[in-house]
Amino acid sequence: MSAPIVLGIESSCDETGIGIVRGTELLANTIASSMELHARYGGVVPEVAARAHLEALEPTLREAVATAEIELRDVDAIAVTNGPGLAGALMVGVGAAKALGVALGKPIYAVNHLVGHVGVDVLAEGGPLPTPTIALLVSGGHTSLLLVRDLLDDVELLGETVDDAAGEAFDKVARLLGLPYPGGPEIDRAAAGGDPTAIRFPRGFTGRSAAGHEYDFSFSGLKTAVARHVEGCEDRGEPVPVADVAASFREAVADVLVSKALAACRDLDIPRLLLGGGVTANARIRALATERCAAAGVELRIPPLRLCTDNGAMIAALGAQLVMAGRAPSSLDFAADSTLPATIVQS
Ligand code: KG4
Ligand code: ZN
Repeated sequence: MSAPIVLGIESSCDETGIGIVRGTELLANTIASSMELHARYGGVVPEVAARAHLEALEPTLREAVATAEIELRDVDAIAVTNGPGLAGALMVGVGAAKALGVALGKPIYAVNHLVGHVGVDVLAEGGPLPTPTIALLVSGGHTSLLLVRDLLDDVELLGETVDDAAGEAFDKVARLLGLPYPGGPEIDRAAAGGDPTAIRFPRGFTGRSAAGHEYDFSFSGLKTAVARHVEGCEDRGEPVPVADVAASFREAVADVLVSKALAACRDLDIPRLLLGGGVTANARIRALATERCAAAGVELRIPPLRLCTDNGAMIAALGAQLVMAGRAPSSLDFAADSTLPATIVQS
């Protein structure tokens, strides 16, 4: 069989993504985001996201098919994110995939969103994913450290956040500083003019507090420390040093993320680190990861940003890997699973 054409559907958070690939070749990656609808709430509102997916799905699908210059009947298989993510949002994608699959008479592959972030590497590099690799996935919805020995058969969750996701922490701290949503890019911008050593903010689960949580993350103490700092300034009638707070906060997040990812590489003797998720757009995280990976002799892989943020192409790419490996399609009774573990690549 020549390389299969796979259509991928992603709807786990606030991006409606339709991707189309031919094997490891990217044909289309169309994304509709409901981000503006959530802006006034300062974070993603699940019901609003689900409703927006329902409205965006059909036009996004049409645009992707037109971009790929194919007909729907040319598709060999449909892949869809069935978790983890927001339950109502996932259900829209899963329902659409089943409807399409049945109507077109095509097999359906229900795949894991987190593993999709890893599998997208095959599109960026046009070849198989080099394994083993550590993967650090950081977005508004997740902060996970994975050990991937084999993309389709051996994915292990080393650790994850016990409270806020890293992107969520950026969004909440931006709000404390009076910056708009989404906070990540705003903090990145504000931090550029600040001193990252001005305030020593806490690094969760490092040092002594790391016992039993070597690869886990916690950002709620950091967020509270920023809030206390801002309140302190206000109580004293001083202006809040936004640039310094932003730079010091960003440094704390970047330091914890990169330190833990590289500790995993070192402890488990894995020579490779892959980054994924919208927070990898952060300039300081990129710089620090580049610098420390080079020093540690670890190969750093960061897919292009449009493939790092949530998208359908990564789901299509992972689906195509399953098809090319000769895996059987998912049985039609699979369901959306908001807490799907990272170990389950295909449901
Ligand atoms: O992967 P993504 O688009 O998916 C969702 O979680 O929906 O990630 C969005 C998150 C937001 O929390 C946003 O604030 C964060 O990524 N983000 C950033 C940057 N750009 C986006 N965080 C830090 N620095 C950035 N430059
Ligand atoms: Zn994601």
